[in-house]
Amino acid sequence: MPKPDYTQYIIEANRRIVKDICKPFILSDDTYKRIKDLFLVDIKKGLGKYTHKKASVKCYMTFVEKLPSGCEHGKFLALELSGDDCRVLCVNLQGDDDFKIEWQHFDVPPEIKVDTAKHFFNFLAKCLSDFIVKYDLQYEELNLGFTFAFPLKQTSINKGILVKWTKGYNVPGVVGNDVIALLQEAIERRGDLPINNIIILNNTTGTLISCAWKHREAKIGVLISGGFNMCYLEKSKHIQLFKNFGNYCPTMVINCEAGAFGNDGVLDFMRTSVDFTVNKNSMHPGQQVYEKMVAGLYLGEIARLTLLDCINAGAMLKGIVSKEILTPMVFRTHDMLQIELQEPGHYETTRKVFGKMGYRDTTSGDCENLRHICTAISTRSANMVAACLACLVERVGDPYLIIGADGSVYRSYPNYPSLLRNRLKKLVRPDFKFDVVQAEDGAGQGAALLAASTKRKKK
Ligand code: BGC
Repeated sequence: MPKPDYTQYIIEANRRIVKDICKPFILSDDTYKRIKDLFLVDIKKGLGKYTHKKASVKCYMTFVEKLPSGCEHGKFLALELSGDDCRVLCVNLQGDDDFKIEWQHFDVPPEIKVDTAKHFFNFLAKCLSDFIVKYDLQYEELNLGFTFAFPLKQTSINKGILVKWTKGYNVPGVVGNDVIALLQEAIERRGDLPINNIIILNNTTGTLISCAWKHREAKIGVLISGGFNMCYLEKSKHIQLFKNFGNYCPTMVINCEAGAFGNDGVLDFMRTSVDFTVNKNSMHPGQQVYEKMVAGLYLGEIARLTLLDCINAGAMLKGIVSKEILTPMVFRTHDMLQIELQEPGHYETTRKVFGKMGYRDTTSGDCENLRHICTAISTRSANMVAACLACLVERVGDPYLIIGADGSVYRSYPNYPSLLRNRLKKLVRPDFKFDVVQAEDGAGQGAALLAASTKRKKK
């Protein structure tokens, strides 16, 4: 009697195990609706006079009271510090929605992210100086817009106190201090920079401003990069803390610091065991709970730990645990997106990624399963971002608005924009219409525009 072929049977059984392990990442419509509702509760807490202190979603005031008109003109400098990189830009605004932009990119060496405050700000001032020399700007008088990708407590656009470091940063001596003053000191130490006036803004605010310059209906900004955050235009009458500040404007951009949603445990019902592990092993445990489920710095790590669960269950890679797969961050979000970019049934990239993790001998089943893991995790990210955005669309309450979106995950991940849009459509009440537009020119241009409108105001 011929021996029965068990291969297909084993492939299917393994697939079922992998799917079971990934199930906690596949959330129901009701769960996303619940997340949306909880986010609104947190937004209100962040804006409330008596609840702000304890709120997870802080809803910081930005003192950006209106969005650009498109008529701004002049030459402005911007310094953009995001996660792994820093950009310096010179934006020449020519009015009538027209501009010229020159920019240079600088890698942030990993050691600078945990170095002393003096070295850190010296590094930023050096980037500015290199750029100014390269573009021959030494003899101009320049206003600088500084986009800073960390939570800031602001009392004006000229003052931003760092509340805490997030992502991979932990420079001592900065938390609790005014970031502009520290940058200014570094500029003075060099003595070679023709910079007059510095204004500061969160990178999400910069993204919204830059998008609003082209699209007047833009009222919400979202960044899904190494980190995650959102901002939106709020009515001042709802910003209870603002009432102490006199000089009352009808609206203000609010920096939600949405990545901290869930820090108080309200989302524990939907966090997976892998999410808890990622949080526990991260540089700032207990902080940025939402960010750690949706942002680029963490998606690869979520996938690595899920893959490890599948291997330990014997459903993948013959149950063999390599040395490399035990290394945190060995599997990156970039690997995930490369895997998902392949045509179904093609595995060259997946095999390369497996190779990097110490696996040379992999089956098509392993490759299919890894793709399944990646898709479950990236889809959850897009859906979760949509849940918070849906809340903001209704909160702003315009019959039609534009969401300016940016960030490496949003830009590069296949299908991410369409997943986000589809989930938003399901979650937003049908009387509110919206479009999601990629903020082409990024936070840096927003910083330059803000510097321009501030200059205009001062005249
Ligand atoms: C920071 C935010 C920032 C976001 C995106 C988060 O970790 O707290 O301020 O906007 O990353 O860069």
